[in-house]
Amino acid sequence: MNSIWSDYVQGVMTLYLSRKLRFDDHFFTQYDRVFSLDHDSELKILEIGCGPGALAEALHRWYPRAQITAIDRDSRFIAFARENVTGVNFMEADAVHLPFENDSFDVTISYTVQEHVEPSAFWNEQKRVLKPGGVCLCLSARRGIQCVAPCLEMTAGEKDFWDSVPPADDELEKYGVGRYRVSEAGLPISMEQHGFADVTTGYALIDLTPDNPGYSSQMAETMIEAMRQNDLEAIRSAHSPGAQKAVDSVNAKYDKRLRLYREGIRQWDTNVSVTMIVRGRKELIPSE
Ligand SMILES: C[S@@+](CC[C@H](N)C(=O)[O-])C[C@H]1O[C@@H](n2cnc3c(N)ncnc32)[C@H](O)[C@@H]1O
Repeated sequence: MNSIWSDYVQGVMTLYLSRKLRFDDHFFTQYDRVFSLDHDSELKILEIGCGPGALAEALHRWYPRAQITAIDRDSRFIAFARENVTGVNFMEADAVHLPFENDSFDVTISYTVQEHVEPSAFWNEQKRVLKPGGVCLCLSARRGIQCVAPCLEMTAGEKDFWDSVPPADDELEKYGVGRYRVSEAGLPISMEQHGFADVTTGYALIDLTPDNPGYSSQMAETMIEAMRQNDLEAIRSAHSPGAQKAVDSVNAKYDKRLRLYREGIRQWDTNVSVTMIVRGRKELIPSE
């Protein structure tokens, strides 16, 4: 069982809830414009590094005729996805050795994965399994905007907890997290250098502001819950003593944030993420 990512880097609920929001139907038109895929055809889509499955779940809603397969190396993510997401074939597999025949998919897609996988393997494996003319979509999270509600500021108790935890940098380094990160300009260049044609870029702006009246109360509360889970799982993945006090403090803060939301007392905390989408095609006829 491989659960390094879910144990030490990001927990199941952190990824599932944050991605459920980022891939909510509210933002679909922004993705759709750049994905430029045919909704009505029976596309075979492969998601690489799917985590707990929120993007695959969205793809199943957006392309109901498509046949979707999603892979990840982390067993816990795949178990969660199999239990909670329908309409997708989830498999435990490695992006650098995809267990599929050549020329099997119309589309490959990934979100915040490229920066963790050695580039030649990342691109060449996708090129191998794509059919000639198939589309590769590489999505990455870029610098956004964050504004924290006063009631969610870190408490002295949480600060003491984090001060007692050894720096996470060594762990992240050990697991290769972000080892191959490239700039906005570097990503399309990398895709072209690995032989993809017709490369284009586009951006989706995901504005998560619970107090904005444009969002349903369910979505606004999911935004608050996603932040809570992010903070709770960060504490758990620190694997340090004294976690319970920090957990209680986080829960009290988010209970208050929820209460303020329900009472209509606005905080205007916001989390805006920018998703870069790089789109390329496998050439119809391989170039020499
Ligand atoms: C930042 S997370 C993103 C997960 C998912 N795309 C999402 O947004 O919820 C990176 C993911 O890549 C997976 N991953 C990293 N290297 C991998 C590899 N070589 N093969 C398969 N999955 C890999 C990790 O297990 C993790 O689930």
